[in-house]
Amino acid sequence: MDSSTGPVILILALFFLLISRSACDSYTCSNEFSQIKNRKNISFCKKLTTLGAEFGWNYYDHNETQIDILFGMPLRTEMEWLAWGVNPQERPQMVGTRAIVGIRQPNGSWAIDTYHIKEDNKRGCRLQPSAIDVKVTNKKIDYTDTKDYITISATLFLPPHQYNISALNHVWQVGYYADGMEPMKHPTDLQNFDSAETINLRTRESVNAGEHRNHLRKVKKTKRILCFFFSVLLLLLMMHLF
Ligand SMILES: *[C@@H]1O[C@H](CO)[C@@H](O)[C@H](O)[C@H]1NC(C)=O
Ligand SMILES: *[C@@H]1O[C@H](CO)[C@@H](O)[C@H](O)[C@H]1NC(C)=O
Ligand SMILES: *[C@@H]1O[C@H](CO)[C@@H](O)[C@H](O)[C@H]1NC(C)=O
Ligand SMILES: *[C@@H]1O[C@H](CO)[C@@H](O)[C@H](O)[C@H]1NC(C)=O
Repeated sequence: MDSSTGPVILILALFFLLISRSACDSYTCSNEFSQIKNRKNISFCKKLTTLGAEFGWNYYDHNETQIDILFGMPLRTEMEWLAWGVNPQERPQMVGTRAIVGIRQPNGSWAIDTYHIKEDNKRGCRLQPSAIDVKVTNKKIDYTDTKDYITISATLFLPPHQYNISALNHVWQVGYYADGMEPMKHPTDLQNFDSAETINLRTRESVNAGEHRNHLRKVKKTKRILCFFFSVLLLLLMMHLF
């Protein structure tokens, strides 16, 4: 090997190593989210399909009813509330969701409470905080003005016959209108069923991700091809080096 090409190939190899790492890892969460996740002892995370949201969780093999969750997204100035919840029904959807909602208060602080979203609310009935049939402890909303990132965290005890952590329907949403503790929706938002999926907390895989399913499949396929391409390139460069 020519001594002058050695360093060039080494730099190229490092470059491709970096690119292939990001192309091969489809579960990388943002730095912002990862830092909060580590601080809260949350083990797993993944980027969600919509709203720039991210989701982190712990599950326990000895007791599948308990999960710890962390839900976060960049905090936009117009945002008045954000919500994450689980749905015990067949498919992931808004109606039937037991949600944890964080709402901006008139004085600028954020409050958090639980809500049960029913058919009536879809038709326009007011959504008020209520007890839900999922026990929620340690619910917390954290936001740091300087970093513009907001998270909801909690520990949930899921009634065992209604939920399955290998096929958990979860739903998330944001809104731009609120009145006290009442999150309100722009009418067109009601049609938005995209922000929901069925997640397997053990494998991190998701299905039923609404209209984004096709788009997502394409992104995944492109990523797989890129991952393969850069891995081969990397291998060839390495072979050239040594
Ligand atoms: C995270 O785990 C460490 C070590 O087990 C513990 O000291 C700390 O209190 C935990 N933090 C939270 C937020 O649970
Ligand atoms: C799991 O934890 C919940 C709440 O602490 C408890 O009620 C339930 O009995 C536990 N289940 C098992 C199998 O230990
Ligand atoms: C802001 O308002 C909420 C209720 O509207 C109240 O509970 C909270 O203490 C207030 N926070 C501050 C910092 O004034
Ligand atoms: C939970 O979901 C998984 C994956 O869909 C399935 O294989 C398993 O049988 C389900 N468990 C129960 C108790 O329904």
